[in-house]
Amino acid sequence: MGLGYVGLSTTVTMATKFETVGVDIDRRRVDELSAGKVPIHEKGLKTLLAKGLSSGRLKFSSQAFDLGSADAIFVAVGTPSSPDGSIDLSQVRKAATDIGGLVRVSSGKPLVIMRSTVVPGTLSTVVKPLIEETSGKKSGAGFWLCSNPEFLREGSAIADSLRPTRIVLGAAESGSMSSAKALYRKFYGRRTPQMVLTSPEGAELIKYGSNSYLAAKVSLINLLANLSETFPGTDINDVALGIGLDPRIGKQFLQAGPGFGGSCFGKDLKALSAYLRQMALDPSMLESVLRINDFQPSHVVALADAAVGSLAGKTVAVLGIAFKAETSDTRDSRSIPLIRGLLDKGAVVKAYDPVATLPESLRGAAQAKSLRDCLDGADLAITMTAWKEFQKVRPAEFARLMRSPTLVDARRIYDPAAYSKVLKYFAIGRGGNGPG
Ligand code: UDX
Repeated sequence: MGLGYVGLSTTVTMATKFETVGVDIDRRRVDELSAGKVPIHEKGLKTLLAKGLSSGRLKFSSQAFDLGSADAIFVAVGTPSSPDGSIDLSQVRKAATDIGGLVRVSSGKPLVIMRSTVVPGTLSTVVKPLIEETSGKKSGAGFWLCSNPEFLREGSAIADSLRPTRIVLGAAESGSMSSAKALYRKFYGRRTPQMVLTSPEGAELIKYGSNSYLAAKVSLINLLANLSETFPGTDINDVALGIGLDPRIGKQFLQAGPGFGGSCFGKDLKALSAYLRQMALDPSMLESVLRINDFQPSHVVALADAAVGSLAGKTVAVLGIAFKAETSDTRDSRSIPLIRGLLDKGAVVKAYDPVATLPESLRGAAQAKSLRDCLDGADLAITMTAWKEFQKVRPAEFARLMRSPTLVDARRIYDPAAYSKVLKYFAIGRGGNGPG
């Protein structure tokens, strides 16, 4: 249920082995998927979709009713932020009610698997009572219920679904746990990864804990990156390497840049902060992580302003609109506040992305048709997404196409030594070249 990134990746993955129906209320999406059209840029999705459809194992529907005879139902509906940052559970409630209706008429005992990210307690105090109320059956008697958070990264969601790092299962009754374990053992066979078995609240906390930790790593390195800029000769990439080589810390998620974006980190940290407040616990650590992240695009604008003297009237080429490479997703992309900041300073902004399009809210900026078109005549280029296409641009090409070849490498995708020989090269976390 729910054919966003998580639901769709889960659906096409499950269809490699099991009869699978993907359900979404968005009829257009259902029709497109049924015709083999992918709505998002996601590596491997088109191939698995085509394979599933041609095998006859995979179907799509806009009616929850079509899940009637399912042995297992995955809930992967959206859990967006409410205006106050807390989690909006309206789609979860609707899914639970729909499932209750299915359970009511079911002659079997379906396993309901909660994949949507929800704050601790949601499975036990919202989902379970709603299914029980609508179905007139008890959890453990009429259906099984299990929390099973996902850790899929956009851009590699299919690979992550096929080879997850771990399977986290949270269930109140042993029957629910056994049923979920059996499903995954049947699916992954000898390649079943380590399973972490816990309570529903434990599983819900693992998801928030993972995302909070990863986001905290990014904000810490960005804080240190901004500080590094005040010390000539200091480069955050060296600092990150020195920190990350400690096996207790690890090298991943220490890439300094314009901050984290996407559909998860910001939303989840806000939801956990709001929940901690509600529980009279201190959310300040998470709030600091978010504050540092909110600041980062304005720091890139300040670097850009200093790089060209003043941004007013300058033409700026923004390289990258998606929140990270290998996805068309622009949700919470750092390019959005960056472009707003550039426009506020009076710059003329052109943006280019191999797959993503500028959100409507950024009408003041123009979308370039190609990388060349974006760089052509620009006074300044800023790297915001680490696309391979951008990494291939040689310094001489920047110099040839741009009016005044100045580069702000906010994603740190170029070798400073080579690029600073030909261009005015500025970068996040590189001492001695920023405004400090
Ligand atoms: C994340 C989690 O990784 C995944 O487990 C969860 O299920 C959903 O949220 P995703 O949003 O796809 O996945 O992106 P991720 O690869 O985690 O990157 C998030 C953001 O952090 C991106 O904007 C990325 O550019 C940024 N980032 C990541 C950095 O700035 N530096 C890093 O070192 C790593």
